[in-house]
Amino acid sequence: MKPRDRLRIAMQKSGRLTEPALDLLNRCGLTFRQSRDKLFCFGEGEPVDLLLVRDDDIPGLIAQGVCDLGIVGRNVLSEYQYTAGQGGPELAEWRPLGFGRCRLSIAVPQEMAYDEAAQLQGRRIATSYPGLLGQWLRERGLDAGVVTLAGSVEIAPRLGTADAICDLVQSGGTLVANQLREVEVLLESEAVLAGPQSLPTDERGDMIDLLLKRLDGVIQVRESRLLLLQPSRHALDAVIRLLPGGPQPTLLPVAGQPDQLMLQALCAGEVSWRQLEEIKKAGAREMFVLPVEKMLA
Ligand code: PRP
Ligand code: ZN
Repeated sequence: MKPRDRLRIAMQKSGRLTEPALDLLNRCGLTFRQSRDKLFCFGEGEPVDLLLVRDDDIPGLIAQGVCDLGIVGRNVLSEYQYTAGQGGPELAEWRPLGFGRCRLSIAVPQEMAYDEAAQLQGRRIATSYPGLLGQWLRERGLDAGVVTLAGSVEIAPRLGTADAICDLVQSGGTLVANQLREVEVLLESEAVLAGPQSLPTDERGDMIDLLLKRLDGVIQVRESRLLLLQPSRHALDAVIRLLPGGPQPTLLPVAGQPDQLMLQALCAGEVSWRQLEEIKKAGAREMFVLPVEKMLA
């Protein structure tokens, strides 16, 4: 394959990960021109293009070098390593991205008795994840029939083609609707940035490096809040003790009010009304909680 000078990122064409993945890339300063076939989107600012594909194809595209990076569920990435990817290059999970959270679980019909994994011995389990399920069963020395289905796994028990299923669970709505009960969690999943084990040594490696730094900033600020408030000097210690975690706050004098200070603190998560009320009671006023838009450490 001839070397490319532009970076190529693969992501799901249409599905649960599409919107949040695009939003994340936009926040990293990457914008794309939507092409007519919507398979290939040309990157406008930076030399980074997008390939919109079926999520199951993403690990293979990275392994073949067609794409440099991919945004894909950990479930798809792990399954690939156990099945199609065997013997090929190892892929790495570069960053967890904090969205698309779900779990790969085994579920059984409501009425089936279940206390321990041994009860799956000799049963048939329908799944789209034969690699991960097979590995899980092997680790427990269990011999069960793995029925591989491409989709609609949840109806297999009702159709009589399986006794249990192994599928993704997000809200749990699909299980309830099909009178199934979650009994084992095989994998906690979320969207991840996937790539080869080591960075390419050309300009694409530098570009990936830059992208990772921006991504870290974006992920960090996504949950960050800037807290501004005015504590009175004598209440300062009490107020600081109540601040939600984060680096040391910054203190500034307030013109014309020698007893007041201006305090600025970066908080790692949401600041609740309850927390604000406590801080106010301790001796602060003029309180603001602001979202953080960009951060570069
Ligand atoms: C997944 C999974 C379940 C459903 C679980 O399917 O296969 O069917 O989501 O989500 P819930 O717990 O919120 O109900 P998805 O909608 O991604 O489509 P697919 O099965 O065609 O991959
Ligand atoms: Zn489904």
